[in-house]
Amino acid sequence: MGEFKADPRQGKIDLGVGVYKDPTGHTPIMRAVKAAEARLLETETSKSYTVLAGEPAYREAMAKMILADLYKPELTATLATVGGTGALRQGFELARMGSPEMRVFYSDPTWPNHLSILKWMGVETIPYRYFDNASRGVDFEGMKADLAQAKAGDVVLLHGCCHNPTGANLTVAQWKEIAAVIAKTGATPMIDLAYQGFGDGLEEDAQGTRIIVESFPKC
Ligand SMILES: Cc1ncc(COP(=O)(O)O)c(C=O)c1O
Repeated sequence: MGEFKADPRQGKIDLGVGVYKDPTGHTPIMRAVKAAEARLLETETSKSYTVLAGEPAYREAMAKMILADLYKPELTATLATVGGTGALRQGFELARMGSPEMRVFYSDPTWPNHLSILKWMGVETIPYRYFDNASRGVDFEGMKADLAQAKAGDVVLLHGCCHNPTGANLTVAQWKEIAAVIAKTGATPMIDLAYQGFGDGLEEDAQGTRIIVESFPKC
């Protein structure tokens, strides 16, 4: 990002981070964020410590936003982390506590940090077919065939919506099939939901996650 900023050439294109930019290359602050900031400034009364797992009201609101009617407090654990990358690290560590020999199946390609975190942790990673260069869509048959190779104790890492880096997403019917394939293997699904609301809408983008939650009542 630093090199890009310093590069004086006209017409340069930033392929480093996937954030919205207007035609002048500026990333504006969304009106809703500005309004929320103003409201916070008006109403907050303390900046004292909250509980270590993060502000309970925030955690509950997030769980409800993702799970809607499927939210069951007795089956849901929430934790505020330092960014999505911190959440992934915590999630992988938790999964390994439950399954020390786990292998992680990841979509080919996936967001690069998935692999650098897992490499650092010394976890075996196995790619599953995902993007089909010819059709510019999901290689669904390849994906199903590769995921069928998982076994109990493994983790299947899925992107909840707006697949990064391909932007190719599963349909609702495909999510259901994938849930059934994973359930048959006994592996545990893990979903990286980084962009809820950036694709088709807040509810639509959570559909895949909700299908997985319904299919794995005890996960
Ligand atoms: C799929 C995916 N997961 C997680 C993250 C990490 O989010 P954060 O920047 O909050 O660490 C990103 C960021 O680009 C991402 O694309």
